Amino acid sequence: MSTSPLVFITGASSGIGQALADSFYEAGYRLALAARRTAEIESWASERQLDPGRYQVYGADVAQTDSILAAGAACIERQGLPDVVVANAGISVGIDTAEREDIEVMARTFATNNVGLMATFHPFVAAMKQRGSGRLVGVASVAAIRGLPGHGAYCASKAGVVAYCESLRGELRNSGVKVVTLCPGYIDTPLTQGNRYGMPFLMKAEDFANQALRAIEAGTSYRVIPWQMGVVAKLMRMLPNAVLDRAVQGRARKKRSGES
Ligand SMILES: NC(=O)c1ccc[n+]([C@@H]2O[C@H](COP(=O)([O-])OP(=O)(O)OC[C@H]3O[C@@H](n4cnc5c(N)ncnc54)[C@H](OP(=O)(O)O)[C@@H]3O)[C@@H](O)[C@H]2O)c1
Repeated sequence: MSTSPLVFITGASSGIGQALADSFYEAGYRLALAARRTAEIESWASERQLDPGRYQVYGADVAQTDSILAAGAACIERQGLPDVVVANAGISVGIDTAEREDIEVMARTFATNNVGLMATFHPFVAAMKQRGSGRLVGVASVAAIRGLPGHGAYCASKAGVVAYCESLRGELRNSGVKVVTLCPGYIDTPLTQGNRYGMPFLMKAEDFANQALRAIEAGTSYRVIPWQMGVVAKLMRMLPNAVLDRAVQGRARKKRSGES
């Protein structure tokens, strides 16, 4: 089996996941790329002229536990135990608590962004501990810092990612396996392209991915990218509730499911 390092990335069919795949490939890694839309990954890989010996594609739905566990097991069997696992797959949909159907949106968001993240790590964690090395990377968001009107499902799920990854980091301390929490600010991807509000410090996915790769390799415990949003996040965390509530009043909301 090849000795070049291996990265397993979920949500590799689009946006940040695809940009991360590109950056890791450039850095000499072999790629294990997972998503539901495998055809998107294959066409990107052929456009990008990836060496077929250096990547494999896994069809997986992270919201279906058996599906993502099977993808993890298949990766270990075909390509070996990864050095880095990036749980990046995620969805962001607005909700209104008065709307019955948005309860399902909340459930789907947690199934994808939270349960899916843990299930992505599960097949690898014991073997990484035994080996004494590895990186488990959780993609959270600056939206984890404070709750925003209309965005309760996403904000709550990403706050959950931050807290879960912190718990896991403590569990794996001194095992040689590092847990890295990434909080992207606003990154230009299909997920943000329909947003109806201003997106300060909007960043290209490639630039995000290059900075994320460095943070992952360094085993950084928590990193907001871009750094300017790290400053914003720190300030937001300190804002008294009354000031925050006034600041976000009337802010355009994230679109609900099916809203144009
Ligand atoms: N863009 C931003 O500004 C921003 C900011 C903060 C955090 N983030 C986080 O960054 C991550 C990537 O977002 P992005 O901006 O790159 O969005 P994106 O372009 O919409 O990509 C989302 C990716 O997640 C995958 N995915 C969604 N549901 C899935 C499921 N059930 N099973 C498997 N894969 C699934 C999609 O693949 P398939 O549809 O092919 O399955 C797709 O590859 C997300 O966790 C997001 O919350 C993004």
